[in-house]
Amino acid sequence: MDFAMLEILLPCFLLFCSWRLLKARSLSTRDEGFPTVVSVIPWVGAALGLAQDSFNFMHKCWGKYGGGYKIPIQSGNIAIFCSEEGMKDVFRDKTRSFNAGAGHRIGIRLIGGVDMDLQGVHLYDKDLGPVISRAFLTTNGLDLIVPTYGMKLFEFLSNLSNDLGDSNRMFNLTTLMGQSLYKNASVAVFGDHFPDNTFDDFMHLDENFSRLMIPIPFYSRSALQARNRLLQSIQSYVRSVWTGSQVEGAPRFASELITALKGTDLSDKDQAGLLLAFMWGMHANTIRVAGFLFIHLLSDHQAFTKVREEIDSILKSSYADDVKTFLETPYSSVPRDEFPLLDSAVKETLRLSVLLSNLREAQREVEVDYGTGKRARVRKGDLVLLNMGSYFRDEAVCSDADNFRFDRFVSGENTPALSAFGGGAHMCKGRLVAVHEIKVLFILFTRFFEMSLVDEKGAPLREKLPPPETRSTAVSRPSDKIHIRLRRKPSKSTRSIVQGP
Ligand SMILES: *[C@@H]1O[C@H](CO)[C@@H](O)[C@H](O)[C@H]1NC(C)=O
Ligand SMILES: *[C@@H]1O[C@H](CO)[C@@H](O)[C@H](O)[C@H]1NC(C)=O
Ligand SMILES: *[C@@H]1O[C@H](CO)[C@@H](O)[C@H](O)[C@H]1NC(C)=O
Ligand SMILES: *[C@@H]1O[C@H](CO)[C@@H](O)[C@H](O)[C@H]1NC(C)=O
Repeated sequence: MDFAMLEILLPCFLLFCSWRLLKARSLSTRDEGFPTVVSVIPWVGAALGLAQDSFNFMHKCWGKYGGGYKIPIQSGNIAIFCSEEGMKDVFRDKTRSFNAGAGHRIGIRLIGGVDMDLQGVHLYDKDLGPVISRAFLTTNGLDLIVPTYGMKLFEFLSNLSNDLGDSNRMFNLTTLMGQSLYKNASVAVFGDHFPDNTFDDFMHLDENFSRLMIPIPFYSRSALQARNRLLQSIQSYVRSVWTGSQVEGAPRFASELITALKGTDLSDKDQAGLLLAFMWGMHANTIRVAGFLFIHLLSDHQAFTKVREEIDSILKSSYADDVKTFLETPYSSVPRDEFPLLDSAVKETLRLSVLLSNLREAQREVEVDYGTGKRARVRKGDLVLLNMGSYFRDEAVCSDADNFRFDRFVSGENTPALSAFGGGAHMCKGRLVAVHEIKVLFILFTRFFEMSLVDEKGAPLREKLPPPETRSTAVSRPSDKIHIRLRRKPSKSTRSIVQGP
């Protein structure tokens, strides 16, 4: 199974490495012109700073060393690349030298609680990977999942908008995005028996999994308990749908996935652990990126107006102004670039949210070209990590790089050549469904509600938005202080009672 998304677990790993680095101090000198980070201390002031904020540490290293450098760790080096050439070379992996299992393994252990060696990771990648690709990368698979998700969400928002009447209500943005995606997409994928009351534990685990790295009982206890409850719920879900030879009441994908898991010799608990790791890969980053899309667009009135006008005009011209018709249309019949501005806004949001990705282990000595005349020798056993966040913030890659420009990808200017989803054989398998889920979510909310960003007390958030959280994760997380106020759209108020917008 390709847990490309799981690699956001990296920071935990880096935390671990940075402690070792500080302890070992066995810092090597420069070799072959591939720069070595010689001291950590001046950059961050304190070890804790690096541990908690690996992205900002690496972003500073990018400023000093450029597109490639290495950080010595006790057992070897981590080679970091952030130039386009270097990242492309790693994605392409012409000599098949990089093992992606290293990152997956950490994810499976921390999120799923399953201890596996690289061989085990590889084996079940082989068993489950094709099932996941068929579901999420083929139009046949997506046609089954996508409309169900849209219709579930429609029904919920339609009820909510009726409940609101003429009043308004405030929601924690992350929780609202989380519930909408986690619950509705899980039901679409795993069927109506899916235990969606697992949401709180899921968020708890997502927010707190880094605690599982640290073996202090009181510190990790609540995350462990959340994980155990999740594993139990998933096991009883599997028991309730698995007939011994197939899965009942769930779409084909769930059936194939669980059948493949049952074919392994893993215990029931470990099978649940893999499913949990899969679910985490499917939802955790999607929830964050969806939150950022709302934050960026709701804090830029002009951008929001343009995107909303595009949505309204396309729904009108292609779907008789009926959002339900749009939702019911199979994925395969919807043109990929149907909402160009919204699509650009999602890409721009991804550009500004991704930080670190693609932890690999070199299986043999390999050379990486990371720029003209720049060649790094990566030794067997060394780790490789891509700092996409610095690449995406490079003025040479796109101008005005620190700012959100919703139409960047349709305005004909320079845009990054690489995708936030990575590249090569291990490109994120969930990329199509994630982008579609987020677009559907945004379309539905703009059709049903007038929205504004507010703080915990309900005061409008205008210029000064709380900054994103870039610590301890490879995809940044919206500040949990941000809330969203929903009000039913007045122009649709009479119609929506009967049929929704
Ligand atoms: C929406 O409301 C209808 C009618 O009250 C109800 O049957 C349905 O379960 C509700 N759906 C959701 C998702 O809340
Ligand atoms: C859909 O999402 C909402 C939150 O936005 C949630 O309350 C609801 O239960 C979800 N519906 C299903 C069927 O999971
Ligand atoms: C993370 O853990 C802390 C401490 O147990 C808890 O207060 C917090 O609510 C947790 N986060 C989430 C999202 O549950
Ligand atoms: C918002 O929700 C997130 C995730 O559920 C949670 O961690 C956070 O504490 C909440 N924020 C507030 C201010 O309640």
